[in-house]
Amino acid sequence: MALAGGRFTGGVIFLIFLQIILRRGVVHGDSFYERQKPKQWNNNNGCDFYEGSWVYDVSYPLYDASNCPFIGDGFNCQKNGRPDSEYLKFRWQPRRCDLPRFNGEDLLERYRGKKIMVVGDSLSNNMWQSLTCMLHTAVPNSNYTLTTHNSLSTFFFPEYETSVMYLKNGFLVDLVKEKIGKVLKLESISRGDEWKNVDLMIFNTYHWWTHTGHYKTWDFFQVGDKLVKEMDRMEAFKIGLTTWGKWLDSNINPSNTIVFFQGVSAVHIDGNDWGEASTKNCQGEKQPIKGSRYPGPSLEGEAIAKNVLSDIVTPVYLLDVTLLTQLRKDGHPSNYTTSNNSTPLLDCSHWCLAGVPDTWNLILFATLFQN
Ligand SMILES: *[C@@H]1O[C@H](CO)[C@@H](O)[C@H](O)[C@H]1NC(C)=O
Ligand SMILES: *[C@@H]1O[C@H](CO)[C@@H](O)[C@H](O)[C@H]1NC(C)=O
Ligand SMILES: *[C@@H]1O[C@H](CO)[C@@H](O)[C@H](O)[C@H]1NC(C)=O
Repeated sequence: MALAGGRFTGGVIFLIFLQIILRRGVVHGDSFYERQKPKQWNNNNGCDFYEGSWVYDVSYPLYDASNCPFIGDGFNCQKNGRPDSEYLKFRWQPRRCDLPRFNGEDLLERYRGKKIMVVGDSLSNNMWQSLTCMLHTAVPNSNYTLTTHNSLSTFFFPEYETSVMYLKNGFLVDLVKEKIGKVLKLESISRGDEWKNVDLMIFNTYHWWTHTGHYKTWDFFQVGDKLVKEMDRMEAFKIGLTTWGKWLDSNINPSNTIVFFQGVSAVHIDGNDWGEASTKNCQGEKQPIKGSRYPGPSLEGEAIAKNVLSDIVTPVYLLDVTLLTQLRKDGHPSNYTTSNNSTPLLDCSHWCLAGVPDTWNLILFATLFQN
C-alpha cells in the first residue's frame, strides 16, 4: 500500500509539473512545450496503455481470420494447422484503465475520404493486415477493393472512400543499387513523396537493421561521402531514424497528418530470455508470460528509438509495442507459417492473426479517439 501511495503522489507531482510547462509555453510562446515529445507520455487520465498484462478473455479473438481471405498465409496460423487456440484468447489489460472497444465503423466514419498508411517492414504488413481485417469485420457488408502496385498495397472502402495502405520500406532511408553493390544511404530519403498527402501514418523500421548473413539486404553503408562495409548496427539505425525525423520536420504539417512510430516488436529465439533454458525458441509455446514484467534483456533498439523520437519536433506518437510483445512468446506463427507441410519454416518474429497486432490497432484507436 505504501508503495502504491508513493507512486500515486509521484504521479500527481508529475502532472502539475507538466501543467507548469504547458502554461509557460502558451504564455511566452516559446518552444519548450513543443520539445516535450514523443507524445507517448501523454497522460491518458493517468493511464499508460503500455503498462499491463495479458488476461484470458472468453470473448476473444476479435475476429475470425477465415472471414478475411486477404490475410496472408504466413500469418494465418489456424489455416496452417496450428492445433492449439488458447493463444487467441488473450486481451491486453493496461494496469490503470481499460482500452475502449475497437469501433471500426466509427474509425471509417472519421476517416471518410481520407488515407491511412502503414509504412515499414513486414511487421507493418502484420499490423496492416490486422487493421484491414478488424475494419472488414466491423462492416462486413461494405464492399472493399484490394490492389497492389509495386510495394504499395491499398485496401479501399468505396462506401467511405477510405484508403488503408501498406507501403513496404524496410529502412525508411534509401537502399540504392549502384555499380559497387547495394548501398544503404543512412542520410538520404528520396522516396518521401510516397508519404505525402496521407492523414494518418504509422511508420516502423528496426528488424532489417539487425539482419546478418543471407538475410542482410545491403552491401555498404553510406554516411556522408563515406562507404563502409560494416558498422555498429545500432549506430546505423540511429542515424537512419534521425534522417527520417528530419524528413518529418521538413515535410509534415501536423495539422494535416498524425504520425505514429511503431516501436520495436519482440522476437522469441532464446528460451533463456524468459527463464526456460531448455526452450530453444517459440516453437511449442502455448501461453503468454504471466504478469507485467519480461525477465529477459531489454531490446537495444527500444532506447534508441525513444531517444531519436524525443528530438523530433513534429509530434510523433510512439506505439510502444515492446513489452506487450515480449510477453507473447506464444503468439508467433512458429512452425505454422504455411499450409504446405513440405516447406517448413520457423517464424518467431511475426505474429499470428488474429493475435497480437490486433492490440496495436486497439491502442492506435484509443490514442486517436479517447484523448
Ligand atoms: C458492392 O458492389 C456491388 C458490385 O459492384 C454493387 O452491386 C453493390 O451495390 C455494392 N454495395 C455497396 C453497399 O456499395
Ligand atoms: C510444430 O511444432 C510442435 C511443437 O514442437 C510439434 O508438436 C508439431 O508436430 C509441429 N507441427 C508441424 C506442422 O511441424
Ligand atoms: C509445396 O511446396 C513444394 C516446394 O516448394 C512444392 O513443390 C509443392 O507443389 C507445394 N505443394 C502445394 C500443395 O502447394
